[in-house]
Amino acid sequence: MAVMIKNNEVKIFPGSQDLFQFAANDFRQRAIAAINQKGEFSIVLSGGNTPKSFFDVLTTDYYKTSIPWQEIKFFFGDERYVPANSEESNFHMANKYLFDKVPVNPENIYRIRTEFDNANDAANAYEQLLRKTFHIHDKAFPPFDLVYLGLGDNAHTASLMPLSDVVMQYIKPSSADINTQLVASLFMKEKNMYRITLTPPAINNGKNIIFLVDGANKATAIWEVLQGKTDPLHYPAQLIHSVHGKTYWYLDQAAAQKLNF
Ligand code: 6PG
Repeated sequence: MAVMIKNNEVKIFPGSQDLFQFAANDFRQRAIAAINQKGEFSIVLSGGNTPKSFFDVLTTDYYKTSIPWQEIKFFFGDERYVPANSEESNFHMANKYLFDKVPVNPENIYRIRTEFDNANDAANAYEQLLRKTFHIHDKAFPPFDLVYLGLGDNAHTASLMPLSDVVMQYIKPSSADINTQLVASLFMKEKNMYRITLTPPAINNGKNIIFLVDGANKATAIWEVLQGKTDPLHYPAQLIHSVHGKTYWYLDQAAAQKLNF
C-alpha cells in the first residue's frame, strides 16, 4: 500500500521481509537505470542495524549477480567516531554485511575516515572528500543519486540528534556559512560518543531519499515525524525532504501502525 503524507511517499508492507525484498528490487532497478544512463550510481548508506536485513537480501545470489556493483559509488550518511574495525563502526557493518559479499569496486567505497585527532577533523576531511569526488565548489552540495536513511526511536536520522547543535543550526541558523556545510560532528552524551553526520541540506540534495524503517519500536517516532506537530528540534527527521526528487518511507506494518490515513 502507498500513501502520500506531507510530500512523503509512504509504502507499507505486511512484514519486514516483504519490505526488504521490495527495497532490494527497487535498489536493483534504480542502479541499473542510473548506470545505463550515466555509467555510475552514487548512494549513501545508513548505519545501525536495519541495513543488515536489507543487505542480507541484497547479497543473495540473484542480486549478487544481477546488479552492476562495480559502477556503484558508496558513501555514508554518518559514522561513529571509532576505528574502522570497531563493531560500532557503520563502515565495519557495511563491510561485513555487504562489501565482503558482493563484487563492489573497493575504490568506489568512500567511508568516513576516523583516523584523526578529533571528530571535527574527520568531518572536515569527509566534506573535502565529497567536494573533490563530485567536483563541487564550496557553496554546492553533492548530487547523490540515492540516500538511504534509518530512523531512531527518538526520531533522529543519520546522526542528526534531537536538541543537538547541528540540528539547532538548521532551525535557527547562526550564520549563512553553516548552510553550505556538508558534514558536521557532534557529541552524543547518552552514548558518550562523538558522531560525524551529513547535514540536512547535504542529505536533501540527494535526488531520491529512502527511509527504511521496520519494527513496532519505531511506530511512535514514525507518527511523530510524519503526522505529529512540526518540531524538527525534537524530531530531526522532519528536516529531511529531497529538494530535487522524492522522499520515500518504506515501512513494515508494525512501524506504520500508528499512522492515520
Ligand atoms: C547510526 C545510524 C542511525 C540509524 C538509526 C536507526 O549510525 O546508528 O545512521 O541513524 O539509522 O539509529 O538504527 P537501527 O537501524 O539500528 O534501528
